Amino acid sequence: MLRKQKLQEADFTRPGTEDVWEDVITDRFLIRMLARFVTPYWKQLLLTFLLLLGVSAMSLSLPYLIKQAIDGPITEAVTSGAENPDLSGLIPYGIAYFLAVATLFGLRFSHTYLLQTVGQNALADLRQTLFQHILRQDMAFFNKTPVGQLVARLSNDIDALTELLSTSIVMVVSNSITLVGIIVVMFAINWRLALIALSVMPFMVSATIYFRRRIRRASNRFHRIVAEYLAYINEQFNGMLVVQLFGRQEASRAEFERINRQYRDVHMKIRDYYTVYASILQILTSVGLGIVLYGGGQGVLAQWATIGTLIAFIDYMRRSFEPILQLSEQVAQIQTALSAGERIARMLRIEPQIVDPPQPKHITDLQRSVTFEHVTFSYEPGHPVLRDINLHIPAGQHVAIVGATGAGKTSLAGLLTRFYDVDEGRVLIDGVDIRELPLAELRQYVSVVPQNPYCFNGTIADNLRLFDPSVTYEQMVEAARVAAADKFIERLPGGYDFMLLPGGANLSQGQRQLLALARALIHSPRSILVLDEATSNIDTETEELIQEGLARVLRGRTSLIIAHRLSTVRDADRILVMQRGQIVEDGTHETLLRANGLYARLYRRQFAQLRLDERYNTSEVSQATEGTAQRREV
Ligand SMILES: Nc1ncnc2c1ncn2[C@@H]1O[C@H](COP(=O)(O)OP(=O)(O)O)[C@@H](O)[C@H]1O
Ligand SMILES: [Mg+2]
Repeated sequence: MLRKQKLQEADFTRPGTEDVWEDVITDRFLIRMLARFVTPYWKQLLLTFLLLLGVSAMSLSLPYLIKQAIDGPITEAVTSGAENPDLSGLIPYGIAYFLAVATLFGLRFSHTYLLQTVGQNALADLRQTLFQHILRQDMAFFNKTPVGQLVARLSNDIDALTELLSTSIVMVVSNSITLVGIIVVMFAINWRLALIALSVMPFMVSATIYFRRRIRRASNRFHRIVAEYLAYINEQFNGMLVVQLFGRQEASRAEFERINRQYRDVHMKIRDYYTVYASILQILTSVGLGIVLYGGGQGVLAQWATIGTLIAFIDYMRRSFEPILQLSEQVAQIQTALSAGERIARMLRIEPQIVDPPQPKHITDLQRSVTFEHVTFSYEPGHPVLRDINLHIPAGQHVAIVGATGAGKTSLAGLLTRFYDVDEGRVLIDGVDIRELPLAELRQYVSVVPQNPYCFNGTIADNLRLFDPSVTYEQMVEAARVAAADKFIERLPGGYDFMLLPGGANLSQGQRQLLALARALIHSPRSILVLDEATSNIDTETEELIQEGLARVLRGRTSLIIAHRLSTVRDADRILVMQRGQIVEDGTHETLLRANGLYARLYRRQFAQLRLDERYNTSEVSQATEGTAQRREV
């Protein structure tokens, strides 16, 4: 126990690579999970099992046929003392042997074929289930789980299970049946010789127990390292800009080398265990063979065994090599697969906290009023980021939210779409607690344009339509026009068919924001619109265009606009000022200026800077003089 802990401390220092969802999965649960994916194919599985029995029976019959031939016609011929002994009695044995081998081939082929089909189908189901399960998770899950870990579950771990379902289990079952069959037949033929043959068995069992544990532990580590490996490369490639800007390549390289070395070492360790284990088994089987030869020879002399029996036993012993060796190989595979299965099961057990209500309500006549009642919210228990928020936004009001970074503006917007649920209090739309609405419906009522929107691999049109062919070209262009995105799109080669690089890398951040805004206008034409610093990277001129466009489409539609630039905010019906998780000021531009509080200070500071900007008309100067402006204001 202590050693295990030490191992983990030494190896897994990188945060976020360990399975965050530490949760004990019993073998029972695991087997039940696997059974769930296999049961739809029970008929085929039954058939493969029957085929398997046939395979074992056939391969067991071969040495027995030889024994019968030797003890029957051959011994007769040898002991008859005739000049030309009659060996025609051998013919039926020859024919039977040939037929048995041919049948064996046919059975084995159909068995493997059928099994592979079932295994692949069951796994396709599992992959689908897992992906859909991840799709259902809430934001807390995605914030907590590194992408590398999700990728590892859906690739490596599934691969390991594929091995388990399509080969390992069958190999184990078939080899076990063959082994048991061999032992039973041995006892049936000659119990004394059978006991002699089995004398090495306890040693084999001990070796198996010894190595089983070590291999399982090593393969658990292996998979953690694979997850770390995937998480690391994912992180490095995503953060390549920072890596190169700050010249962190050397650190990157060294860290990769460390993980890569661990990867190799743990792989080799598994190999080592397996090689030693296999060698020990091979030695034990050879020893067993020697003992049978010696004991059997004694038996023939003492007449409690025949030559045919001895030869059959040697054949049976040799035939038991293969299943035992394969079983030992499968032990490693199965351990790997089981720990992969465990991780998948653990992920499948996580239930999203944010789900549809059991008896959902519906809003029949959407007015779009928003109410926060005594809302307190925290990401981490004990550290509230929103405290006792009380707010009523009547339908159709245009509200702006300002406040320092970290004040809780994004969190407030996130609550409205139920990315998270409140700890205390309620959030209501048209008087209905949003927890009583179906999630899909709620997200039609509220659409948030985030500050850092994501672009998918595809054209501009794909990204605007979100791959939904029912969005017409006209709808798309109209939305782009309102969002003031049309100008830049038309200048791109191919216009709306311009192909975006992964993540939209060939657009500027501001252009991505314009696309996101247009996208929200297309897909939620009647929703409450929340812009979370959605125009923060857009020049003032374009922003003015957007405001004009929005003023038209948002007429009568509730909107919440989180912004830093107070020029955006000035014309809102109402301005909320947030500070440390609370709304500290609430009013129109004029009333807030008159109140001479936080907003008035912010405004005067920006206004002073604006005037400076106008005077020098360069941003460098404005930055250099920012300090002066502030001082003058005080
Ligand atoms: N996913 C998260 N998990 C934990 N804490 C978070 C998370 N997102 C934001 N926070 C914390 O919540 C506070 C408010 O953040 P946020 O609502 O994003 O502020 P704003 O949008 O006003 O800049 C910050 O102190 C931040 O550290
Ligand atoms: Mg924010």
